[in-house]
Amino acid sequence: MLDIRDLTASYGPVKALDGVTFTAPKGKITAVLGANGAGKTTLLRTVSGLIRPDRGSTHLDGRDLARMPAEKMAALGLAHVPEGRGVITELTVDENLRLGALGRADRSQPADFERVYSMFPALNDRRGAIAHVLSGGERQMLVIGRALMAEPRVLLLDEPSLGLAPRIVVQIFDLIKGLTESDGLTVVLVEQNARSALSIADIGVVLNLGRLVAQDEAKALAADEKLRHAYLGF
Ligand SMILES: Nc1ncnc2c1ncn2[C@@H]1O[C@H](COP(=O)(O)OP(=O)(O)O)[C@@H](O)[C@H]1O
Ligand SMILES: [Mg+2]
Repeated sequence: MLDIRDLTASYGPVKALDGVTFTAPKGKITAVLGANGAGKTTLLRTVSGLIRPDRGSTHLDGRDLARMPAEKMAALGLAHVPEGRGVITELTVDENLRLGALGRADRSQPADFERVYSMFPALNDRRGAIAHVLSGGERQMLVIGRALMAEPRVLLLDEPSLGLAPRIVVQIFDLIKGLTESDGLTVVLVEQNARSALSIADIGVVLNLGRLVAQDEAKALAADEKLRHAYLGF
């Protein structure tokens, strides 16, 4: 489980995250929702050590992640898939996947590739193709697959649905849900697409201007009309 306490972070004078506290339970999907600029990306970047917090802490299964180097976090099982589907377009699908396992002591095993390819048949068909030719949905699958090659216990996903066709979004979300159920993977799913995210999430938190304004079971958030209109845009 990922335990976030009083997390506060700034860009110069701009406070982007202000005293955010919540727990992402093991084997569950926690949706982090809120409008553009609410602080969702900053939250993930702070948890994964890319931004140094002004105050607050993050614990992964009781271990303090503060000031831990990124490779140590990866070894502890934290994987971050940033916004924007950052595949290496000059490399093949296979090579992109292999990069995901570099931090592991045993590197990649053939079985890990097969597992990712069986989850994403669209990638399986294009193992040797350079990533440049992939569609947006395929690139999103590739960055998620690359993160899974590190065998994470906690997966941080930043806007995986952005710009994808609804059918592809459903496919990717179903897969993420499956991983929490089969592997006990803990997922923090950042989304502006609150309706879709709440349909697969177990719990949700809502950010507004860097502050946490609501947290509840996903069903309860989706049923709260006032909250939906004020912060979730549906
Ligand atoms: N690199 C940056 N420099 C300065 N301000 C930033 C930077 N990145 C984000 N911000 C500001 O921090 C706030 C939160 O942004 P962000 O975490 O990207 O929100 P979200 O992901 O919810 O859209 C916004 O006010 C945004 O303008
Ligand atoms: Mg963002």
